[in-house]
Amino acid sequence: MDPINLTRDFVKKELENEGTGHDWWHIERVTNLANRIADEENADPFICTMSALLHDLADEKLNESEEAGLKRVKNWLDDLKIPQLQQEHILYIIKTISYKGGQGPKLTSLEAKVVQDADRLDAIGAIGIARCFTYAGSKGNLIHHPDVEPREGMTKEEYSKRDGTAINHFYEKLLKLKDLMNTRTGYNIAKERHNMMKQFLAEFFDEWSGKK
Ligand code: ADP
Ligand code: NI
Repeated sequence: MDPINLTRDFVKKELENEGTGHDWWHIERVTNLANRIADEENADPFICTMSALLHDLADEKLNESEEAGLKRVKNWLDDLKIPQLQQEHILYIIKTISYKGGQGPKLTSLEAKVVQDADRLDAIGAIGIARCFTYAGSKGNLIHHPDVEPREGMTKEEYSKRDGTAINHFYEKLLKLKDLMNTRTGYNIAKERHNMMKQFLAEFFDEWSGKK
């Protein structure tokens, strides 16, 4: 079998019973999107596919530490005898796109941009809505708290009152992702998904208030 199929089987096995929002189907969707974006942006399809497949495997939630997770990925690439330069590129992508503190470092490779766009796209649109409510449910969070009318650009203090609700997460993160896209192709897909989320929110508030 070729390295991509071997990696697909490996990751599938590792994430089959994963319940933190990084289950195998998230990986499959991100890999498909990364391929589509890579094709349009003329990025290296092998690097994009391998990085998309492996991108959540080093996550802290699945390992003792991020370092231990990255080591595990490196061992896997060694086993497959992937050339050193390609290994470094794949590890760079995994390390930088999973960066947790804010926007993270500026990405310097086209392939990193493609995979990050694919990962972020899976957090918006219809799938993004589904993942958001699943995550909130798994944490025991409310759907919504009506104390403060949510809107884009609300103050930190206003945010804090709503902290932790599923609807709050749209304003805190999901509605911001469109403008963080790295590639033109990613942005075009994000625009549609973004509009769909805005429609959903408008409908949601109309129903919440009894207008509809
Ligand atoms: P990733 O590492 O894949 O960018 P996260 O681990 O931050 O994403 O989140 C996984 C999924 O859970 C995403 O779809 C994200 O939108 C959702 N999520 C994360 N935090 C929250 C939250 N506080 N409320 C609702 N959904 C959340
Ligand atoms: Ni991911």
